[in-house]
Amino acid sequence: MKSPYVSELEPNRVITSSFLVHSKEIRQKKSGELYLSLMLGDRTGELDAKMWDNVTESLDAFDRDDFVKIKGLVQVFHNRPQLTVHKVRRMDDSEIDFADYFPSSKRDPEEMWAELRGLVAGVSSVHLRSLLEALFDDPDIAQRFRRAPAAKSIHHAFLGGLIEHVLSLCALARLVAGHYKNIDPDLLLTGVLLHDIGKIYELNYERGFSYSNDGQLLGHITIAVRMVGDKIRALPDFPPPLRVLVEHMILSHHGHLEFGSPKVPQFPEALLLHYLDDLDSKMECMRALVEHDRQLEGCFTSYSSALERTALKMDRYRTWDRPPGLSASPETNGAASPSPQALTTPNGAALDLPAAPPAQPAAASTPNAPPTHRAPAGTAPAPHAPVAAPQAPVQHPLFASKPDSIFADKLRQALKPAAEQEG
Ligand SMILES: [Fe+2]
Ligand SMILES: [Fe+2]
Repeated sequence: MKSPYVSELEPNRVITSSFLVHSKEIRQKKSGELYLSLMLGDRTGELDAKMWDNVTESLDAFDRDDFVKIKGLVQVFHNRPQLTVHKVRRMDDSEIDFADYFPSSKRDPEEMWAELRGLVAGVSSVHLRSLLEALFDDPDIAQRFRRAPAAKSIHHAFLGGLIEHVLSLCALARLVAGHYKNIDPDLLLTGVLLHDIGKIYELNYERGFSYSNDGQLLGHITIAVRMVGDKIRALPDFPPPLRVLVEHMILSHHGHLEFGSPKVPQFPEALLLHYLDDLDSKMECMRALVEHDRQLEGCFTSYSSALERTALKMDRYRTWDRPPGLSASPETNGAASPSPQALTTPNGAALDLPAAPPAQPAAASTPNAPPTHRAPAGTAPAPHAPVAAPQAPVQHPLFASKPDSIFADKLRQALKPAAEQEG
């Protein structure tokens, strides 16, 4: 197991650790000397890195998507950790455990797959169930669907992200399909299960996440329509008008022509699919934005071009109901007062910046911290809401298996009997 992970880095420490190279650029200082600008990563996040000196022998020593062992100094630059690389060497694949470098779903892939197959088995329309079984019985599709991310970087960009996204949508679809009486639940569920299936071939995810050639040239919507067409050819009784409905849901799920859909949704199930997909992707995008933000100070994340906004880091902002001893002001957000340190800009000029605290960034999460968006709506009161004192200690299902969640801790505190809270 590698150590330390990105989420464990502390400023002003010299570390030796291994990383996956997410990007590598050779740049020039004002003096004309070359330096390396890197984005490194592991399963817990990304880290800017610069190699200012002695780069000649390192320029061609490794590439993007290589694993590297690096010795360097963790500093703070523009309110973010940055690694100044002293030494770097390329690692052989045999030296590393892939699980250390690729973010993956907190859920067990086999458990998610069993849940998905259960949903397919529950589809009452014979035609739609036959189509779904034809697709998910395909060994190559089945293997890729368990592993694929839902996106390269925007949302659910981790191994198992696609199936996690689809199952989240299935849960949302079940809720709204019961609310709107003009919805065909089988059709909506089929659209949910198939809308992004083309992503299993659109993306490469064996090392870093990138677009495949098919993905670059066709995109996941076109790939999905082709996959569905291929399977329907072996289902001679499949009604052609039903095929058109399924294809329309796939084609229109981005909702707008400018977002890559050649048609806008034109029946209720297609419209619902679009809005649920948009909701789920944005909720996950905001969760990841807060969880992976690298700003060491402040209550807001850096700007997200995908969401077109910054996001509030609630755990830094929400200090008034924090237990005594853990309180941190919104100004410092849990970070200790910085002391000056000297950093160097790419052009070699000294730069005085505050040193970061020895403590972990408040927003950095552990590798196993669960995404907070998975809390079912309405299942738990806000931490400040008045709560009736229960007779026995509350074991809320939301955090029963997620003991290290910040929100779970707050909820647990809020749900404690009054006497216990005072104690
Ligand atoms: Fe999509
Ligand atoms: Fe989607």
